[in-house]
This record gives sequence, structure tokens and C-alpha cells, in this order.
Amino acid sequence: MQQQLLFTPKKLGAIELKNRSIRSAAFENMGKNYSPTEELVNYHKSVAKGGVAMTTVAYASVNRSGISFDGQLWIRQEIMPELRRLADEVHSCGAKVSIQLGHCGNMTHWHTAGQMPVGASTRFNLYSPTFARKLKEKEILQIVKDFGNAVKLVKEAGFDAVEIHAGHGYLISQFLSPYTNRRRDKFGGSLNNRMRFMQMVIEEVLNVANREIAVVVKTNMYDGFRSGLQIDDCITVAKELERLGVDALVLSAGFVSKAPMTVMHGAMPVKTLAHYMDMKKYWWLKAMIRLFGRFMMKSLPYSEGFFLEDAKRFRKELKLPLIYVGGLIAGEKIEEVLNSGFDFVQMARVLINDPEFINHLKEGGITYRSNCGHSNYCIGRMYSKPFCCHHCAENLPKKIEKEIEKAERY
Ligand SMILES: Cc1cc2nc3c(=O)[nH]c(=O)nc-3n(C[C@H](O)[C@H](O)[C@H](O)COP(=O)(O)O)c2cc1C
Ligand code: SF4
Repeated sequence: MQQQLLFTPKKLGAIELKNRSIRSAAFENMGKNYSPTEELVNYHKSVAKGGVAMTTVAYASVNRSGISFDGQLWIRQEIMPELRRLADEVHSCGAKVSIQLGHCGNMTHWHTAGQMPVGASTRFNLYSPTFARKLKEKEILQIVKDFGNAVKLVKEAGFDAVEIHAGHGYLISQFLSPYTNRRRDKFGGSLNNRMRFMQMVIEEVLNVANREIAVVVKTNMYDGFRSGLQIDDCITVAKELERLGVDALVLSAGFVSKAPMTVMHGAMPVKTLAHYMDMKKYWWLKAMIRLFGRFMMKSLPYSEGFFLEDAKRFRKELKLPLIYVGGLIAGEKIEEVLNSGFDFVQMARVLINDPEFINHLKEGGITYRSNCGHSNYCIGRMYSKPFCCHHCAENLPKKIEKEIEKAERY
């Protein structure tokens, strides 16, 4: 039987997508000098040829202090030719192209950010681990402008959409969450105050986008730990994003520095993470991960469509288009999600495993299933090397093969 809804076109703000599938932002670690490379262009071309309606280039920083990885993109005038080429090449393969824009806040290192990491409040960040300094008001206003400038540049470069990262414990999420925001000024305290930075960013982004490209926001349904945002607060945040006029929300959850596996579910690939980490640069982090990784980054059981029940609560409360993400690897679940009122589906791992997944679904019909076994090897590797599925990685050491086998049963 053929998919009923997946292969129908639908409008997303100013653009129309040929079907309901979007490649979710998943950090490729393929940038060089913070600019797109041939490898990055080729990966997105392969996903575009594989049938998705739109691919999302992951996690580009809007300024220098917002970079958390050397292989990341930093949106600036100098890289316009490379950005244009990336957009043109994806278009030539029949898909639209979006880019995730964000600022990492405290989740970086001195040498990566080029300065002391900054955040909503001064505190020690376990993820790096490093101290981060509280942003001054004038710096906050500059970052708002940096978001606007990044939107202006990617729009000029030919991108069809932007996805603003407001979840997962990055800067906007650090302002929203009571765990990371201890400010006593107009950006801290009540939820209304904690939403102020997000509101300013979104107003700036919408203004610059001017309804000529789509504006999507990735937001949390919950942070995933007791002192973070819970579901009711996140519904308030989502309603505010709806009021501000964004074109759609991607509903995710989790906080990379505190509850990373909430984002993806499954086992935390601790051995993979430590194995690929650069010994010279990160010997202390490598040692910490080996010793305490399992306790610091708790695994969470995986199931197909693991966010669906939580996302349905948001569907009931909101009218704007919603994009579902989380644990989609097979035709039947995708159809169930779309039939539950979600307008589009995003997928990350299944398209790392097989960029042609959507074409295979078209040929194989609704019962087609991918063989992505949620081993999360791709995540452990992504922190240090260009991402790839373990099916493509050669000469894996025995300890990693064992970790993959164990994770696939989790
Ligand atoms: C290798 C990898 C890198 C990721 N990087 C990002 C990222 O840069 N930004 C983001 O919002 N989510 C990121 N994610 C999360 C995915 O976008 C998605 O929300 C999550 O993996 C659940 O979807 P899935 O079950 O289809 O993989 C990443 C996921 C993976 C597997
Ligand atoms: S490494 Fe594992 S989780 Fe990642 S894409 Fe491959 S099979 Fe899926």
C-alpha cells in the first residue's frame, strides 16, 4: 500500500514543499574554516536526491562567540559564495534547503569561541567543562542583531527557510530554562522575562525574513530534568512563538549539557565518544567521559516515534503548523504521525543511515522499514569527525562494535 499523506505537497509559510518530509538538523561536522565544504554540499545533495522535500543544514552560528565546534558553519559575508553554491546544488537535486541558526551560549571552549564562553548567567558548565560569563544587556542586543544579519545573508544566498534553534540547552534555551537563567534583570525571573530574549530574536528574524522565506523554530516540549522547563511552561513558550507569527514549530526535548539522550533516546555511546576525541586537545574530557560518562549522560529507552504522545498535547493546544521529529524509521509510523495532525515530519538518523530512505519508502510502500538500529554511533562520532553511520565506517575496533550491538538492543 502507498503512503497516503507523506507524498502530498503542503505550504510552509512562503514556500511549498513537494511532500511532508524534511531532513532534520543533525550536525555534520563537515565545515572548514567555518565554511561549507565539498563534503557538506555532497551530503546534502545525496539527501535531496533521496527524495526529501527539504534538507536542513545543521547548527550554523550567527556570530563568533556562538561556535561550539571547529567543523561548524559561522554565517558571515566572507562565506557567501560557498553558501550560494550549497543552496544552488541542493536546488538542482530537486529539494528545498533550510539552515539551522543558533548560538551555543555556554556550551563551548575558550579556544573554539575565541573568548570566554558566554551564557544567560555566570556558571560552570559541565558539558565543556568550562566557566561561562553572564551576557551584558548590550551584548544581548548585539546577538539579536546577529540573528537578523544571519537571516539576511542566508536569504540572499538562496536558502528557502531558516530554523531558529530555541531548544536543547543552547543560548535561547539557556535563557528560557530556570536551570541556566539566574538573572535578576528583565531577562530573568518569571517565565515572561525569561522569554524576552527569544521574543526579541524571533521579532528580528521575522522582520528580516519578511515572509519571503519560511521561519521555523525548534523548541523544547520539556528540558528532561527536574530543575529544567516542564511541559506546561513549554506549552506557554510554544503559544508565544505562535503569537509572534512563526511559520511552524519543530517539537523536540532535552538539554545537551544535562539530559542529552532525551533529544535522541537510546543508549549513550560513551566508548565511541571517547574513542574519537582528540587526546592532545581534550585529554581531561576524554578521561572524564571514560570514568563518569555513563552517570553524567544517562541512556533513555528508545521506541519508534518516542515523542508522539507528548507532541499530541502540543497539537491540541496550538493552531500553527507543527513538525514532528523523533524516532521515525518506517512508513507506517510516519503515516500515523501525519494522521495525528502533524503537518510535516523531520528525520535525522534514518537519513544518516540511508539518504535514499524517502525514495525507498516510495518504492517499497507503507510497510517499508529502515535498518537504522538507533545505535547512536553517529552521535558519538559527530563530536570529533564528520558524521557517518556505523554501516559506512571501516575498521571499527572491537569495543565499538560491541557497544553498537548492545545499543541496538536498548
Ligand atoms: C548525529 C546527530 C547530530 C545532531 N545534531 C543536531 C543539531 O545540530 N541540531 C539539532 O537541533 N538537533 C540535532 N540532532 C537531533 C536531531 O535533529 C533529531 O532531533 C533527533 O535525532 C531525533 O530525530 P531522529 O530520531 O530522526 O534521529 C542531531 C542528531 C544526530 C543523530
Ligand atoms: S550509526 Fe546507528 S543510529 Fe546512527 S544512523 Fe547508523 S544505525 Fe542509525
